[in-house]
Amino acid sequence: MALTKEQQLQYISHLIGECHKCDLYKTATNHVPGHGNANAEIVFIGEAPGEQEDLQGLPFVGNSGKLLDKLLNTIKVPRTDVFICNILKHRPPENRDPLPQEMKVCTPYLKAQLKIIKPKLIITLGRFAMNYFFPEESISRIRGQVRKIIWQELPLTIIPVYHPSAGLRNGAMLKSLQEDFLSIGQYLQKN
Ligand code: URA
Repeated sequence: MALTKEQQLQYISHLIGECHKCDLYKTATNHVPGHGNANAEIVFIGEAPGEQEDLQGLPFVGNSGKLLDKLLNTIKVPRTDVFICNILKHRPPENRDPLPQEMKVCTPYLKAQLKIIKPKLIITLGRFAMNYFFPEESISRIRGQVRKIIWQELPLTIIPVYHPSAGLRNGAMLKSLQEDFLSIGQYLQKN
């Protein structure tokens, strides 16, 4: 019998838990494969787990996660309806930026997750996740825009937005995030 989407995602999580393709597992407490609804229409992709995420093994459960929850509330999308994950599945020490080699070896897990879930909409949170799909773009230029691409033979619709941590640091970025979530809400109503 075919595996359900949930079972397939669990298998990917298991592989991530055993992954030694880069050194991040050595300093991490837990792997953070991603969490949420296997049948989600929306997938959020952040950068990498932070301290709280590393401790709990869950994505976006620290301060950025709290802001993400508030933004989701504004568009009446329950967190239980979506799937949330990151480009990197283990925390980089001191929350440093992901290294190109780490992204290279880690993103096949993200690809596998997207191929299982086949979401209607992807929201990239921050520069690293945006650059994964749009390597030549800048986040300040394309944030809030609905972009349709064929990626790895999958048709994807992506709305890049600033990372919630930027919204926590900077009032203007918070305003942009709030505006962009309104655009996300409008897109969801129309599609
Ligand atoms: N920042 C991210 O990019 N991802 C998380 O899971 C938490 C904070």
